[in-house]
Amino acid sequence: MTTRYEQVQQDLKANPKTWLVTGVAGFIGSNLLETLLGLNQTVIGLDNFATGHQHNLDEVQQTVTADQWANFTFIEGDIRSLDDCKKAVTGVDYVLHQAALGSVPRSIEDPITTNQANIDGFLNMLVAAKDENVASFTYAASSSTYGDHPGLPKVEDKIGKPLSPYAVTKYVNELYADVFARTYDFNTIGLRYFNVFGKRQDPNGAYAAVIPKWTAAMIQGEDVFINGDGETSRDFCFIENVVQINLLAATAEAEAKNQVFNVALGDRTTLNTLFDALKTALKECGVNYESDPVYRDFRAGDVRHSQADISKAQELLGYEPAYRIYDGIGKAMPWYESTLNTGSDA
Ligand SMILES: NC(=O)c1ccc[n+]([C@@H]2O[C@H](COP(=O)([O-])OP(=O)(O)OC[C@H]3O[C@@H](n4cnc5c(N)ncnc54)[C@H](O)[C@@H]3O)[C@@H](O)[C@H]2O)c1
Repeated sequence: MTTRYEQVQQDLKANPKTWLVTGVAGFIGSNLLETLLGLNQTVIGLDNFATGHQHNLDEVQQTVTADQWANFTFIEGDIRSLDDCKKAVTGVDYVLHQAALGSVPRSIEDPITTNQANIDGFLNMLVAAKDENVASFTYAASSSTYGDHPGLPKVEDKIGKPLSPYAVTKYVNELYADVFARTYDFNTIGLRYFNVFGKRQDPNGAYAAVIPKWTAAMIQGEDVFINGDGETSRDFCFIENVVQINLLAATAEAEAKNQVFNVALGDRTTLNTLFDALKTALKECGVNYESDPVYRDFRAGDVRHSQADISKAQELLGYEPAYRIYDGIGKAMPWYESTLNTGSDA
């Protein structure tokens, strides 16, 4: 039987659309770009390189044909500028709004800059997209919105208080989206990503996410630090599942509009298990990491456990995550190994 995702891809190939991907030079944005260009879509990308990289775009160029690459227009601009947002959204059918400053610790250190990108920037994009009358607006929400709610697995309509400035910004996105539906009849879909991982997720810098940070440390023979006792758990979600749900959301029927959806697998993996899984997968790539992890204090703002109930996305969007965590790690590790392993004895 054909899945909804297969059907959507066939329909898009037969009837290409124009997409705006904000945050296109980042991890998730560049993976969306790669898939959309591969489906012969026209894509406009907006990014200010705050945390994204030109090399992510260069890498996408290597994976598509010259004709497909010619369907891509890049705008170096800032979502904090309404003019940049208006320019980027001109003539667009579907918006995939990914641009934001991620990272809980970054937001604790500098809440003002995070607020400007994640709330002012979000509002600019909403206004620009509404005024352009785009066919759909899908945005990156976050599992951090569950905050201190103790329930597991997380169900979309039961949230707690945010635990960080970042979480506040992502929750405010949802509030604005809801108000735009009520006041302007402008429909959106929010995707509450749980911990996403895969190729092109940045391993560098103080705010790197756990999988790329640990992977880089293992490849480079450095210490791997675990914040807390290692029994903290997350619902890690491979990037291909995230790409899938963005395409499903962009093309969704009216009944799925003005809603938020969990994006994950419904699994729970502890940091200790993750450490072992990465070590094993890297061994397959010829990287032998022998050290034990170094345990240190819990980190402020982190939730203890995270696990999604994904039944709403399955029912309303036809989401069928094709990659479980070990499949994803198996796919991601060779990319990190070939990108980071420059040592002569590798
Ligand atoms: N990766 C995850 O696990 C995860 C989890 C939950 C939510 N999210 C959300 O998903 C989205 C994409 O995250 P990612 O992991 O790809 O991060 P990323 O940092 O790799 O990508 C974000 C992109 O947005 C761009 N950007 C930031 N501020 C901008 C601005 N003012 N104007 C224009 N561009 C700007 C950055 O340069 C970068 O290219 C973000 O909204 C993030 O909050 C990610």
